[in-house]
Amino acid sequence: MEAKITLLPGDGIGPEVVAEAEKVLAAIASKFGHTFATQSALAGGIAIDKTGNPLPEETLGMCLEGNAVLLGAVGGPKWSDPTAKVRPEQGLLKLRKSLGAFANIRPVRVFPALAEASPLKADRVENVDIVFVRELTGGIYFGTPQGRETVANGRSGHDTMRYNEMEIKRVLRVAFTLAQQRKAAGGQGKVTSVDKANVLASSRVWREVAHEVAAEYPDIGYEDVLVDAMAMYLINRPGDFDVVVTGNMFGDILSDEASMITGSLGMLPSASLGEAGSVGLYEPIHGSAPDIAGQGIANPLATILSTAMMLRSSLGLEAEAGVVETAVSQVLAAGHRTADIAKPGETKVGTQEMGDLVVANL
Ligand code: IPM
Ligand code: MG
Repeated sequence: MEAKITLLPGDGIGPEVVAEAEKVLAAIASKFGHTFATQSALAGGIAIDKTGNPLPEETLGMCLEGNAVLLGAVGGPKWSDPTAKVRPEQGLLKLRKSLGAFANIRPVRVFPALAEASPLKADRVENVDIVFVRELTGGIYFGTPQGRETVANGRSGHDTMRYNEMEIKRVLRVAFTLAQQRKAAGGQGKVTSVDKANVLASSRVWREVAHEVAAEYPDIGYEDVLVDAMAMYLINRPGDFDVVVTGNMFGDILSDEASMITGSLGMLPSASLGEAGSVGLYEPIHGSAPDIAGQGIANPLATILSTAMMLRSSLGLEAEAGVVETAVSQVLAAGHRTADIAKPGETKVGTQEMGDLVVANL
């Protein structure tokens, strides 16, 4: 097949990890006889430096005309002054919104070879296989009004958390559909919806609508969990969860927490998807890691695994996606580790070497 893929390397370690994913894409293309045309565009802090805009029109145009977007990471200390007028993160939010990518899929799976890397006891971690479905284009990230002002007590800032029925229904349906697919493949067949309905009006609407959607899927189990309790259960009994669906900010926080169950943030991919046929956005869930940028030691596996999600979800290439995922498992099983997942005394491989090892195992 032919596909056009837009690469947004971004900031920090972004360019280094995207370069390895590009190698994997090229290898898959030649192995399976596909033509993947890749085009790189500016996004994030580097785009602010070069154009003043974290998501230049040209970049957005390129993203919209391709089949899928692969993003490295955006942001860094250079652009994080709280009084700055433009921030790299605004570019990412605008991109998600413009692509209509309302469902952010974040699988949290423990690679057997890395079970010891988890800070949790091995028996709690062994069976962990969770997929977060985070609502990505609504909630407090996008609610208006938002802003700052000066009041009698000094400086003040405000955000608005708002969810409507349409937004809640469509993301819940993604979660239930995923739970059905996973159940067919041996999964638990359960959706956990996380909210703060004991305090927030938006969460009470979320919960009410979630119950209505749940009734459409009698074959799938359903539970509501309050977000504070969920933070606890993720540590206490992570193996109990299957598909976890939640709003934008709760999903942001809980998915970072969940990533630690696996022992390395550097391993976790994500896909951000909209309605069928829209352009998917794929990115590692880790950030730009400015402290290690440019040293050639970042772990490219989350970006490579995000590429596998892209092959599967945007290009319909299930077999190719499986080949990439298997190659990653084999490289780990053979004992190759980047610095973030190496135990003391283990030999470490660099970013490029890790990319080459994956390619060699395809
Ligand atoms: C994430 C990140 C982003 C978010 C930032 C970079 C805007 O933390 O993808 O989880 O908060 O959504
Ligand atoms: Mg986050």
